[in-house]
Amino acid sequence: MVTAGRGGNVELFGYQLIAYLQTQVSGLSEHRVANIFKPFASPAEWESNLGVLVIAITAGIFVVVAGLIAFTLIRFRRRVGDDLHQEPPQVYGSTQIEVAWTVIPILIVFVLIGVTARVIASVQNASPPKNMLKVRVIGHQWWWEVVYPDYSVVTANEVHVPYSRDGKVATYLELQSADVIHSFWAPQLSGKMDLIPNRTNYMWIDPREAGVYFGNCAEYCGTQHANMMLRVIAQEPADFQKWIAGQQKPAMADGQLSAQRAVYGSLSCVSCHSIRGTASLGKFGPDLTHLMDRQTIGAGVLDNNHQNLRAWVNDPQDPKPGCFMPSMKLTDSQLDQVVAYLESLK
Ligand code: CUA
Repeated sequence: MVTAGRGGNVELFGYQLIAYLQTQVSGLSEHRVANIFKPFASPAEWESNLGVLVIAITAGIFVVVAGLIAFTLIRFRRRVGDDLHQEPPQVYGSTQIEVAWTVIPILIVFVLIGVTARVIASVQNASPPKNMLKVRVIGHQWWWEVVYPDYSVVTANEVHVPYSRDGKVATYLELQSADVIHSFWAPQLSGKMDLIPNRTNYMWIDPREAGVYFGNCAEYCGTQHANMMLRVIAQEPADFQKWIAGQQKPAMADGQLSAQRAVYGSLSCVSCHSIRGTASLGKFGPDLTHLMDRQTIGAGVLDNNHQNLRAWVNDPQDPKPGCFMPSMKLTDSQLDQVVAYLESLK
């Protein structure tokens, strides 16, 4: 998948560029668009500073080289009256200049290697701050399973974390994959880190402001790679605790919806999805225990509202072709009942 991954990165770079231009033109809220040059966490800030340094150095080299070429082209262009048969003066060269243009680039390369190595080391080895929250993120084709092992909470596509204004509270992500290689990338919080089958990778983030940070899968992982979007939702620590407490509660056992629940339970939805406290125990698809808490459906493909939820359950292949949830070919009445039940999962 290496070659394809590069294609994905080029695509993301294009997206990044367009997103950046959009923020500059429209003044959209910066949290809405993932701009790597507006970091909101320590790893992203160090990487962004490194990026600016590298761009400055390489832009300097470009100006010098392009300037010399332009100067030479203009200064030594063919002029009226030039004798076209006369050879130019044959010069041996200059040892001094050759030494200079060998040594200076070597020094520049060493500076770039040194600074980059330092940033990588500080991102990778920084001793995790105390009071770390542990979150396991598992990549699936094409969604994110999000597990809070210390709280027995499972959700999908939205990583809730407390924000960290003083840098003391950070979140530690354990990155795993259920199938192929994915890559976790929330550009304003940190660089990319692959999720690899049979291996656990780690990264940490310390968002400095409450808000929603948008991210994507950054490693080509199949048909719906581009629609494997994620959100990191940074909250006031107290709000985060409230959210966790809400997630720990079982799904609503609303007696009034027992008919709707029975319809859901009679369908094969239960073999792929879990709803805690019910007989729906599937592990293949996202946990639905608190489905209505989420902002989107299908890993960012649709806003989570009644109309979209109904359309999604009716035929997920329409908004997200190739995804592993089939259309169950439900009748209108079954559809209404399943959606009503799902909408009670708050
Ligand atoms: Cu997952 Cu690309």
